[in-house]
Amino acid sequence: MTKILVTGGAGFIGANFIHWVLKNRDWEILNLDKLTYAGNLENLKAVEGGSRYEFIQGDICDGPLVNDLMRKVTHVVHFAAESHVDRSVLEPAVFVETNVLGTQVLLQAASKNKIKRFHHVSTDEVFGALELSDGKKFNEETPYNPHSPYSASKASSDHLVRAYGDTFGLEYTMTNCSNNYGPYQFPEKIIPLFVANARENKPLPIYGDGKAVRDYLYVDDHCEAIALVIEKGKPQETYCVGGDSEKNSIEIAETILEALGKTRNLMTFVKDRPGHDRRYAIDHSKITKELGWKPRVTFEEGIAKTIRWNIDNMAWVENILNGEYQKYYKKQYGGK
Ligand code: NAD
Ligand code: TYD
Repeated sequence: MTKILVTGGAGFIGANFIHWVLKNRDWEILNLDKLTYAGNLENLKAVEGGSRYEFIQGDICDGPLVNDLMRKVTHVVHFAAESHVDRSVLEPAVFVETNVLGTQVLLQAASKNKIKRFHHVSTDEVFGALELSDGKKFNEETPYNPHSPYSASKASSDHLVRAYGDTFGLEYTMTNCSNNYGPYQFPEKIIPLFVANARENKPLPIYGDGKAVRDYLYVDDHCEAIALVIEKGKPQETYCVGGDSEKNSIEIAETILEALGKTRNLMTFVKDRPGHDRRYAIDHSKITKELGWKPRVTFEEGIAKTIRWNIDNMAWVENILNGEYQKYYKKQYGGK
């Protein structure tokens, strides 16, 4: 029997992963989430009370709690993190606490309890930045070169995972994926933020010249990649996961404005993010060759579905926008 401790399952990717697993596998899930600003049990309403799903509110930094939960599971899939680059510029300390120290607490308990597989969910941002038009992509051999407090904290967590493998024999796998998008994404990230603003005819804040590129990956494709790595991936290996969909911020804004029938005048160029990485792109040939994974959802399909979801679930979005997000937005944009 496979029973997975999912950390951060009330967040964007974690919630999608739980839905995906309960639909596509017979695994049981124990979801440990602190419910920070980014954690939302609304994301999991449909699976609450199910026989294969249990939720525990708690902090991954809480050693005794984590140790107790590890005794009940066979696998760990570790999503819990502070995940937003802009917040890491404003408040770096919590990124180190959760992403570095929290990961170490989990690794310690996983080693002690002889967990079969610790799967660490990481990011392509640990590799630094590519040039806009050099044609290069990140792969598993790319040296680490993180620039933001977020990516530096994730890089540290990746090193700790490998150190626990090398030092204590912990069996792990890791995925470094590109920018996810899809249902339940917190509207601080570009796609749901731009949909929410466009809908209300508010400005879409485009950082700098708007030409920074991200490789967009539909979240269900990412969930499938993680499941395949747990099942068939080699222990102590890393797999890069990308969406083959490189887009810049202007293209994202244009696509959303066109889909919603809004004027391009809503595009508003604002001060650039400090240390803004110019381009991310993933070469996913290792996971494609070894595990037969490739992204199924094209950007055109994925963005259409995501815009639709955000429009159909405006109450979910508005609950967030009217609460915690307002405080943050005011701090970042000075009350605009
Ligand atoms: P998210 O911010 O939407 O969710 C994070 C979740 O972790 C929330 O539910 C939050 O409550 C929980 N959490 C935070 N601190 C915690 C703590 N101390 N203890 C327990 N729970 C805690 O993030 P996401 O976008 O779903 O990202 C999930 C993972 O995927 C992260 O590790 C992130 O670095 C990685 N990742 C995300 C992307 C992306 O595009 N979103 C891309 C690459 C990698
Ligand atoms: P984001 O969704 O924050 O993800 P990440 O920083 O992890 O890549 O940002 C994606 C891209 O969009 C990035 O180049 C920054 C840009 N961006 C904007 O131009 N305006 C915005 O309001 C946001 C949130 C992001």
